[in-house]
Amino acid sequence: MKKFLIIANWKMNPDSPGRALRLGRAIESGIAQAAGVEIVIAPPFPFLGAVKAALKKARLGAQDAFWISKGAYTGEVSAYQLKHLRVRYVIVGHSERRGLGETDEMVEKKLRAVIDAGMNAVLCVGEREREGDDIPAIVGEQLKRAVAGMEKQNLARLAIAYEPVWALSSTPGSRPDTPAGAHRAMLYIRKILADRYGRSAAENVRILYGGSVSASNAASFLHEGNMQGLLVGGASLRPAEFVEIVRAAAKR
Ligand code: PGA
Repeated sequence: MKKFLIIANWKMNPDSPGRALRLGRAIESGIAQAAGVEIVIAPPFPFLGAVKAALKKARLGAQDAFWISKGAYTGEVSAYQLKHLRVRYVIVGHSERRGLGETDEMVEKKLRAVIDAGMNAVLCVGEREREGDDIPAIVGEQLKRAVAGMEKQNLARLAIAYEPVWALSSTPGSRPDTPAGAHRAMLYIRKILADRYGRSAAENVRILYGGSVSASNAASFLHEGNMQGLLVGGASLRPAEFVEIVRAAAKR
């Protein structure tokens, strides 16, 4: 069994490198004892250097990456550039980026670029609405399109975050999914991977839950829902709460 993967997605927060450094330090000082958990902090691009300096146990993550390594692409940041900053994990296809116009085709290229650059990718999939218990087919479609060109040997560098958009804390009226709902999504995602790559390769891919994860529900997603990690947004900006989430994962 791989370690639980707990990722802090700071989104476009905080507002200064000094605050980012303090936040990184506060998290680091609380997680030093947490054994058996892999922790990733994904700050905004301009703060990668400042936060990296504060990290000892946690690894550095990024929230996006462009697929071409260099050139005339104003405003973009390439996977290769991130690799040089010692970024180890890159979030790809977050619903907030998809909402700004990122297509499945772009997500596929980004995923490939991250893996080709030698980093790990965290692919986000998730439906905007769900009625009843069934996981909507859009989740499977997003996944299949994103891994369309991915070879089996690269699966070891892939994690998938199931993030139903209706459950994100930034969605008005949101509520977290249930552990049972997240578990169903995990089985559905794993079946798609198993059909394509075989069962044993699929078993090695960590499937995370994200959406209003908090100190009070983290343990239930990991231990009842059997998720292999968590993608944490809002609560990752509150160091004491994020540390509690990491500790919930450390109590396997
Ligand atoms: P949330 O965000 O934990 O604030 O719901 C999760 C995410 O968007 O990755």
